[in-house]
Amino acid sequence: MTTLAFGSCAKLQLVNPQPVWSEIVAARPDGVLLLGDSIYMDDDRHVEPAALAAELRHHFEARLAEPHFAALLADLRARSAPLLAIYDDHDFLGDNRYGDDFPTAMRDAARAEFQRAFTPERLGRETYTMQAFDRVDVLLLDARYYRRAPAHCRDDRDAVLGRAQWAWLEERIVQSSAPYLVVASSTTFHAFADESWEEYPAAFSRLRSLLCRRRGALVVSGDVHRNALYDDSGVIEVVSSGIAGRGLIFGGVRQNYGLLTFDADALRIELRSRKVYGRFDVRVPLSSWTLP
Ligand SMILES: [Fe+2]
Repeated sequence: MTTLAFGSCAKLQLVNPQPVWSEIVAARPDGVLLLGDSIYMDDDRHVEPAALAAELRHHFEARLAEPHFAALLADLRARSAPLLAIYDDHDFLGDNRYGDDFPTAMRDAARAEFQRAFTPERLGRETYTMQAFDRVDVLLLDARYYRRAPAHCRDDRDAVLGRAQWAWLEERIVQSSAPYLVVASSTTFHAFADESWEEYPAAFSRLRSLLCRRRGALVVSGDVHRNALYDDSGVIEVVSSGIAGRGLIFGGVRQNYGLLTFDADALRIELRSRKVYGRFDVRVPLSSWTLP
């Protein structure tokens, strides 16, 4: 059995301290996926790589020092369980910004600061990667570095990921022989809000056709500040976002995160939340591979 915890959108400026990370420690996951927006920059309109890097570094240092998050990292290290981290906009170039719309020096500076904080062993290399667990392969996508605003590339099959990452992804999906396959994307696959893969129809169809044929495959994503399950395209998507944020109207603290437990016959999807409408607990048998 393998249990993975995942979440996204943790804003220290709004919620500090963040005890939600202790709940994840208590779940004893075999790995933790941070799906982006793990910090929020104050300045979303940087134009200088050095200033961007300095602000990112400042926020990442605060993230790593937050006591509950630091305890999670220590627990994972002690159990040799991996932290798998990808960035979204607020921990990369800023709100709704796309890497390929900016000079290479800007996106390289952002990528390096992120890697220095979470995956120093990958410094100077690609962020996208694969991690194999018992029964499940996890493909972590970099959906920011090579992406452009959708107006430029609606018909581009290589949109969102860029040509090399697409080739890597296709090869990994075809070669994976694990019963379960998780594709982790910072932004949602289906259109829960803006910035979904559906804004790039050619790329959306390409990934959909790869995953529709693959029993045991699902997309996990974040970004949209709520928990959700979806499968209308034929691809199961599990969304968890708002691990440390607040509701817009009444300002209540959100503690949204997900747990995926893979066993021989089925996947259990638990989405936890302080809000009742954010709670899900379903079992997806491998034999049917459809949401109940
Ligand atoms: Fe985001």
